[in-house]
Amino acid sequence: MQFISFHGIPSIPSLKPLCADHVNHQAMQQRVPHELRSIEKLRDCPKTLTMGSQPLGNCLDYLSGVWTFDGLRHGFCVDLRRETTPFFHAAVEVTRVRQALISDIHSNFEALQAVLADISSQNVDKLICLGDVVGYGPNPCECLETVMRRAELTIMGNHDQAALFDPDGFNPVALRAIYWTRDRLDAGSASVVNRRWDFLSELPKMHTQDKVMFVHGSPRDPTNEYVFPEFIYDKSKMDNIFSRVTQYCFQGHTHMPGVFTPDLEFIKPSQCDNVFPLGKEKLMVNVGSVGQPRDEDNRACYVILDHDAKKIFFRRVEYDFEATIKKIYSFSELDRMLGDRLRTGR
Ligand SMILES: [Fe+2]
Repeated sequence: MQFISFHGIPSIPSLKPLCADHVNHQAMQQRVPHELRSIEKLRDCPKTLTMGSQPLGNCLDYLSGVWTFDGLRHGFCVDLRRETTPFFHAAVEVTRVRQALISDIHSNFEALQAVLADISSQNVDKLICLGDVVGYGPNPCECLETVMRRAELTIMGNHDQAALFDPDGFNPVALRAIYWTRDRLDAGSASVVNRRWDFLSELPKMHTQDKVMFVHGSPRDPTNEYVFPEFIYDKSKMDNIFSRVTQYCFQGHTHMPGVFTPDLEFIKPSQCDNVFPLGKEKLMVNVGSVGQPRDEDNRACYVILDHDAKKIFFRRVEYDFEATIKKIYSFSELDRMLGDRLRTGR
């Protein structure tokens, strides 16, 4: 996010942004509503606005509205203290509305790198991770540190939680892998190790943004509940889960990408040509798994959420899974099955 300030008088056509990089002046004139006060308020901006080199104050004191065009959100600020000479101060909040949603990396660094390379070609600058950064795979530290650096938001997954606390309901293979993962996360200088554990321990279980929910498991039990495709045959369960969804819920955990609709359909990416429109009905979207896909497709999976186009795009990315498998085979604590399944995507 970036704030650029500019000023003028409060008649819209006179606005002349000092930085035109992200602002099409003509588009701005057309899109700005006349009544600034009726526009949705922009809150929680920690930035301080400035006039020249003079700090004016916190954004919240000044913001009067926000509007969206060209995939960017723009906030307006009016300095109400200057009553005789109305002074108009505007801030441009540069927030792209294409978000990349990744989940279930599971310490697979080759898959993560391939996905990040794909994301960088997709005009996306906001990365959200829905958890299970670690567990199962051979590169927990590399994956965790990359996510710490790159993701603007990371949600707690059940394997991330299991690295921190006593694992709950883990089978012997997952259990041995998570104990090994703990040892790897404990290796290194005290500051590096502390940073990893601090990051993991502070992960939120859920995040909501403008009626969009992000969880690892389900809106009912954000960390641990699986919402499998076959749940569409259990109406009361799905009705209960959907009752907690505000509009759209994005999740991972099952490693099976697809869209759940409230009329109990599960639509696989292949059934919608990898693109699904966001309408008025509630949806739950499983973004699939970067590092351990289980839908019989061995390519890494993630989703791009495009708020402006009102669509989601399922992306599949090839990566060198044989390199990951070789590493898994080299650690006796990691069951060979954890490598084998990467080949088949199951
Ligand atoms: Fe997972």
